Amino acid sequence: MDESPKLINIGLFGFGVVGQGVWKNIEKNRTTLEGRLGVRISISRIVVRDLTQKRSVVVPNDILTTDPDLILNDPEIDIVCELIGGTDLALKVTESALKKGKIVVTANKALICEHGEYLFDLAKSNGAQYFYEASVAGGIPIIKTIRESLVGNHFSLIFGILNGTSNYILTRMEREGSSFDSILVDARKLGYVEADEALDIDGIDAAHKVIILTYLAYGFWVKLKDITCEGIRLISQYDIEMACQLGYRIKLLGIISKDLSDESLTVRLHPALIPSTELIADVNEVYNGISVTGDVVGTTLFVGRGAGQDATSSSVISDISDAVSLLGNSNSTIQHASPISYFENQKGLKLRTQGELESRYYVRFDVRDEEGVLAEISNVFAGHHISFSTVNQKELEDNLALIMVTTHLINEASIIKACNEVEGLNVINKKPSFIRIFNPFEFLS
Ligand code: NDP
Ligand code: HSE
Repeated sequence: MDESPKLINIGLFGFGVVGQGVWKNIEKNRTTLEGRLGVRISISRIVVRDLTQKRSVVVPNDILTTDPDLILNDPEIDIVCELIGGTDLALKVTESALKKGKIVVTANKALICEHGEYLFDLAKSNGAQYFYEASVAGGIPIIKTIRESLVGNHFSLIFGILNGTSNYILTRMEREGSSFDSILVDARKLGYVEADEALDIDGIDAAHKVIILTYLAYGFWVKLKDITCEGIRLISQYDIEMACQLGYRIKLLGIISKDLSDESLTVRLHPALIPSTELIADVNEVYNGISVTGDVVGTTLFVGRGAGQDATSSSVISDISDAVSLLGNSNSTIQHASPISYFENQKGLKLRTQGELESRYYVRFDVRDEEGVLAEISNVFAGHHISFSTVNQKELEDNLALIMVTTHLINEASIIKACNEVEGLNVINKKPSFIRIFNPFEFLS
């Protein structure tokens, strides 16, 4: 006897860039998707803030509502997608859905970072599930990869470009020399930028993703306040040009490195000069790139669009399909591995502080163009045992100049002290700024 495929009802919270992408792309590939999953899928309710808002994706009017309870209290809805963003209403609806045993799919990295530990426990104790593939690197299936495909590895280094907006801005600054602000306007139109754009520009969004990857790889919840988190606001056109001359590109990088000698972990997010010969240095525009080195697999690299409607909705739909498979249907042609593992914290793993970081640095000094300036700066740096590897100078107007140096390996505490001391010199026009130099080989050898 023919059994008609089971109907799975989904409730969406949020119908902005990502929410509309989920609807649009489920419609676009509905026949194939339902065929693969062996079920019928219906987005039966969508919660928004403003019912009068014009949307590029049109849905039946009676599906839209402003009342969260119409999803949360509907026993027919088993899968809830939280695509609102933020940590207020998003937390309330996630909590409520998990307590009712529903499967929650999210793209909300901010919420996971702030409340992940609690929400994963809540899911576990209520027999619910909390899926988050879209929360890191947009369309790249990095969560599933680390959790499932690379499960047999210990990780020594995970690093990469984790914010599409910043990479888009840096790429266009480098290629066209356009202004930061005008490129940001374009990124906003393309749907890459967070509702609170400071999250992108100040590195917080990418730091959230680094924290999630740290949890996945090491079972270790790191607090944002305990890691270095710097965005791209201070990167100038001069820095980009000088980096290119020296054989580097500037990228906003998240870096998680484990030092096996003392079982310590360094977790950081900041702009870095990376050798232009590295594949990740060539990951441009909205693309993200993540390199994962495991002791069994070696080094792997994943590249794809890190933001935007379609790439992100691809990851949400992937989680929806895992959820469908968990809900049990005999007709599915796809077998999913267990989608969530709960990690025990790796006992004894300690987080290194910013000052303990050892790196090479690029430092830019805005100075008065007078004799003896370089000597004064060198003296200060020598006093902190910092030696220069390269020195360049660029003349500016109004008797000003830029001195740009790179250093040999030194700890960050020394660089900070030296820069603070140089700032006090009479010949200095602005606070010196430094960018770390990141060469993956130094971590893998
Ligand atoms: P948008 O701002 O485009 O959409 C947010 C949606 O949530 C809107 O439909 C809005 O309703 C609704 N909403 C907001 N506040 C409320 C509220 N108080 N009550 C009811 N509905 C509300 O955001 P995105 O789609 O870009 O992002 C959604 C999530 O996905 C965020 O967590 C983001 O970090 C994440 N994400 C985004 C990516 C992207 O490229 N855009 C990529 C990866 C993750 P209304 O439309 O009526 O205003
Ligand atoms: N604003 C984020 C970015 C969206 O630009 O990467 C994807 O998480």
